Amino acid sequence: MSAPISDFVSLDDFERHAFEVLRVLPRDYFRSGAWAETTMHENRAAWERLRIWYRVMRDVSARSTSATILGGEASMPVCIAPTALHRMAHPDGELATARAAARADVPMILSSLSTTTIEDVRAAATEIDPAARTWMQMYIGRDRGIVRELAQRAHAAGCDALVLTVDTPVWGIRERDIRNHFRVPDGLSIVHLERPGGPTGHTGSGIQEALAWTIDASLTWKDFEWLRDSTPLPVILKGICRAEDAARGVELGAKAILVSNHGGRQLDGAPATVEALPHCVDAVAGRVPVLVDGGVRRGTDILRALALGAQAVCIGRPILWGLASGGEEGVSRVLAILAQELDVTLALSGCTGVNDVTDDLLRP
Ligand SMILES: Cc1cc2nc3c(=O)[nH]c(=O)nc-3n(C[C@H](O)[C@H](O)[C@H](O)COP(=O)(O)O)c2cc1C
Repeated sequence: MSAPISDFVSLDDFERHAFEVLRVLPRDYFRSGAWAETTMHENRAAWERLRIWYRVMRDVSARSTSATILGGEASMPVCIAPTALHRMAHPDGELATARAAARADVPMILSSLSTTTIEDVRAAATEIDPAARTWMQMYIGRDRGIVRELAQRAHAAGCDALVLTVDTPVWGIRERDIRNHFRVPDGLSIVHLERPGGPTGHTGSGIQEALAWTIDASLTWKDFEWLRDSTPLPVILKGICRAEDAARGVELGAKAILVSNHGGRQLDGAPATVEALPHCVDAVAGRVPVLVDGGVRRGTDILRALALGAQAVCIGRPILWGLASGGEEGVSRVLAILAQELDVTLALSGCTGVNDVTDDLLRP
C-alpha cells in the first residue's frame, strides 16, 4: 500500500501497511497469538457478531465522545493497552505513543517491558499536556526488589495507577516467535528490568527463554496484596476472565478490573473477552470500573463494550501498527479514526454521548 497514512481510513489499513514495512521478527512478535490463535481471532469476531439495535429520531445533532475513565476525563472511552518493545516498531518508540496519547487526551498504560523509561515517557506526555495520564503496567517477577522499585519510580514520575497483569504465570506459546528464535534485538533493552550482570532479553530463543526472568509462576493473591500495600497508587487488575476472580480482586482492593486475555497471547481456547465481560461486570456489581481489551478495532466495538457495562476499552495491536506506519503521527491517526468511528456510531445508534449507551442497544 503506497498511500500516505493520512489516507488510511480504518485500523485495518494500518495493519496491512505495518505488515509490509516491519521486518519478520518484530512483525510476528506483535501480531502473534498463542498456539492456533483461536482466541485472538475470536476476540474480534465475537464483537462483530453482536448486533446493535439502533434507536431513531432522537436529535443527535450535538454529540460528544468524551468519557470518564477511573475518575478522570478523557476525549473518548479508550486507553492505550500496554504493549512491549515499542522501539521495535519505530525508533521513537514509547515516546511517540505517549505524545500521541497526550494529544488525543486518552490514558496510556506503559508496559513494564518497554524500551523507554517511565520518566522519559512522562516527560514526553506532560510536555504536551501537563494533565496527561499514564498508568504503569507491572509484572511481578522473581526479583521483588525490582518490582518495588518500579512501583516507586512510577509513583515518583506522576503515574496515577499501576496495572498488575495476572494472566501470565508463564508465557503463552507463540509459535511464530519460536520459529523466529525471538529475542530482544541488539541495541534495544527492557530498560526497567535489566540490571548489570542480571538476565536480559538478548539471551535464549523464543520468549519462553528470552523473557522467562520477567515473570513468576508462583504468584498468588498474596502477591497482589503485597503490591497493593507497597504503593500509594490504585492498582488495576489486568487479565481477568472469570466472575469469581473479578469479585476476589475487588474484595482485596483492586480499584478496577481489566477483562483481558492478553490479546489471545496466553491461553489459546480462552473465551473472547466480550464473552467474559458480562460475567465480570455482574460480579463486580458497580463497586469499581470494569475495562476490557482484545480485538477492539472499530467504534462499533467500543459502543458494544459500553453497552455490556465496560467503562472504557483498551487498544493493543492497532497502536503498534500506527507506530510502525508513521510514528507519533501514525498513532495519532489510529486514535483519530477510532474517535470518528465512535462519534458516528453514537449518532447512528441514537446516542448523543457515552451515557446514552445502555444494554438494550444489544437486545431487541
Ligand atoms: C505485542 C504485544 C505486546 C504486549 N505486551 C504486553 C505487556 O507488556 N504487558 C501486558 O500486560 N500486556 C501486554 N500485551 C497485551 C495487551 O496489553 C492487550 O491485552 C492486548 O494487546 C489487547 O488485544 P488487541 O491487541 O487485540 O487490542 C501485549 C500485546 C501485544 C500484541
